[in-house]
Amino acid sequence: MDREKALTAVHDRIRRCTQCALHIGRTHAVPGAGPVDALVMFVGEAPGFYEDQQGIPFVGAAGQLLNELLEKIELQRQHVFITNVIKCRPPGNRDPNPEEVLACQAYLEEQIDTIVPKVIVTLGRHSMARAFPDEKVSIVHGHPRRLDGRVYFPMYHPAAALHQPSLRSVVEADFVQLRALLAGEVEPEEYAPPPEAEQLSLF
Ligand code: URA
Repeated sequence: MDREKALTAVHDRIRRCTQCALHIGRTHAVPGAGPVDALVMFVGEAPGFYEDQQGIPFVGAAGQLLNELLEKIELQRQHVFITNVIKCRPPGNRDPNPEEVLACQAYLEEQIDTIVPKVIVTLGRHSMARAFPDEKVSIVHGHPRRLDGRVYFPMYHPAAALHQPSLRSVVEADFVQLRALLAGEVEPEEYAPPPEAEQLSLF
């Protein structure tokens, strides 16, 4: 199957998914948006109110900020792939629970394996925790790492910068660093997980 068809097939399955209770309250599942040959994949946490209404990721306030940040480094939104760890909105925008993350994880894996992005940008701790469960965004943000043949670039979630305006300049600086990474001006560090850490490494 060609990659375009493979991605469409995953997205069709996500739209019909009933593997966790979140399907009961959803208006739309939100598989993700962007081209199958995207070099950069942004992985947020979960759809919010507007995303659930429209079936498109990052269309609310955090999405507006994401658009501005992309524009600043001259990355066009239609050239990147944007998705979330979980594809249906949790009630009241609460944090995703482990069962929901587990129910959705194969979809994200399939998206990554189909798109094979050069860089996976994790937005916020829920997204980062899939690859680096023992890390803190406040410490590792803005530092690219290679793990199991994939390059990750952890960042704060844009919503964090909306709630805490002092983080805005940090997030902007990380986007500049992302541009440098894409231009080959920065080398990702080879990540060696601490031996005692229980490795989820599910991305
Ligand atoms: N926040 C997210 O993590 N994802 C969205 O799609 C929107 C807001």
